[in-house]
Amino acid sequence: MSKFNVLYLTSELYPMAKVGGLADVAGSLPKVLKDLEHDVRVFLPKYRVIRDRKYNLREVIRLRDIEVPMGNETVTVSVKSGFVPDSKVQAYFLEYKPYFDREAIYVDPKTGKGFEDDAFRFALFAKAALEMLKVLYWQPDLVHVNDWPSALLPYYLKNDYKDEEFFQKTNSLLTVHNLAYQGEFPAKVAKQVFGKGVKFDENHPAWHNGKVNFLKAGLLCSDLITTVSPTYAKEVLTPEMGAGLDSVLIEKKDRLYGVLNGIDENVWDPETDKELAKNYSVEEPEDKAVCREALMEEFELENPDNMLIGVIARMAWQKGFDLIVDTFDKFMDLPVNFVILGGGDKELEQQINELVEKYPGRLGVKIGHDEPLSHRIEAGADAFLMPSKYEPCGLNQLYSLRYGTIPIVHATGGLNDTVQEYEGDGKGNGFRFEEFGAEPMIAAVERAVKLFEDKSAWRKLMLTGMRQDYSWTASAKQLIKVYQEAKAVEVA
Ligand code: ADP
Ligand code: GLC
Repeated sequence: MSKFNVLYLTSELYPMAKVGGLADVAGSLPKVLKDLEHDVRVFLPKYRVIRDRKYNLREVIRLRDIEVPMGNETVTVSVKSGFVPDSKVQAYFLEYKPYFDREAIYVDPKTGKGFEDDAFRFALFAKAALEMLKVLYWQPDLVHVNDWPSALLPYYLKNDYKDEEFFQKTNSLLTVHNLAYQGEFPAKVAKQVFGKGVKFDENHPAWHNGKVNFLKAGLLCSDLITTVSPTYAKEVLTPEMGAGLDSVLIEKKDRLYGVLNGIDENVWDPETDKELAKNYSVEEPEDKAVCREALMEEFELENPDNMLIGVIARMAWQKGFDLIVDTFDKFMDLPVNFVILGGGDKELEQQINELVEKYPGRLGVKIGHDEPLSHRIEAGADAFLMPSKYEPCGLNQLYSLRYGTIPIVHATGGLNDTVQEYEGDGKGNGFRFEEFGAEPMIAAVERAVKLFEDKSAWRKLMLTGMRQDYSWTASAKQLIKVYQEAKAVEVA
């Protein structure tokens, strides 16, 4: 089987710069591909949180002062070199302080919204990758880009760089992790992003309802597209889930694949996880109880017989936090306790804090991002609730399965592909509700509570999940097939 040279562009990378699941994927998939002997190299912005010393980043003389043509000007950037932590995967860090040396990755702390100049930040990111490749004189077979922040690269490849000999053998693949985030900007940015001579009208690939749309340009210009689960790959073709880009995706349907994300089995392993009060395994799951006790103590929870439900997510519309808040009083009629970790939407944060006041001893909450706590919750909870309105893949249900924590999910996207309803006799690995709404969600939690009373059946269900394989092994193979197919597309 052929081995590929791949430049993998990402705007997040665990453990250096994480907002959500993209970081986890970017921190694990390239390592697996490298183990399969593909030469995968990662390219990402050097944000302030990525400290040179901490991650051993080095200056490379050749990669200093690279000139990137942007609109009317030339921007001079540098690229530093390092590795994806705990691996031999080469990583390149785009250093341009005016854009990336900031307090946050995407959200301006002053406004709570994206940065004003995001269009320029991420257009530079995409173009700088191509300029760096020329300086390195490394010709990738494929450029694998992720979500809107790197989506302009396929556009530049097919336009600004189309006649360059150097890129005649470079194909592109765009992975959509979340169609709702598109990188949409006012038309006035077009001059700087696409160049002054380029006509920005409805015939331009980034044109979408009179605005500049990075993701649309990426969808139209990349050779192949993947999404992060088979179900989501179908859902995005519908007006309900297509976020306004369904017709574009229908046009590219023959070049669209759903490849389920895998998990990093070294980072998420109850047997070796250093954050846990006690490690446990599928052979000896008993010590999960120690993690549970520690979590209850940490949040001063009472009623140890109640089923302990964990929730970890960005507080965004997508995740269905509003449904949890609205339904909380009804949950409290059941023998359940909750631990919730999340942050984002200020209103939801406040509503959840109010619930803590109302239900001391039954609800523990931490607002903010807390990586170690996310591990303690996965290990200490009995069940894990994900009432997502939509979910391209979802990783927490997979971490939950590995940690013997039973997922209760809305059957959408990747949740539909990975969680099957418990039916006894080793059938099913969790509980799911098909319709989004309070009643179906409560009914699913009730089914879980009922089984929780039967300790031996519950244990069997835990072990079913713990034995399942959600590593990258199978998905990486599928992805390589997609790479092969992308290579077969003629570079125009
Ligand atoms: P998404 O990418 O939409 O946020 P995923 O389920 O794919 O959803 O991945 C979310 C990742 O972010 C998981 O690793 C999850 O544990 C982590 N995460 C989300 N919110 C927090 C938080 N407040 N603290 C720590 N980790 C979090
Ligand atoms: C996105 C999606 C999530 C997915 C993650 C990694 O942010 O919301 O469902 O698991 O990307 O692909």
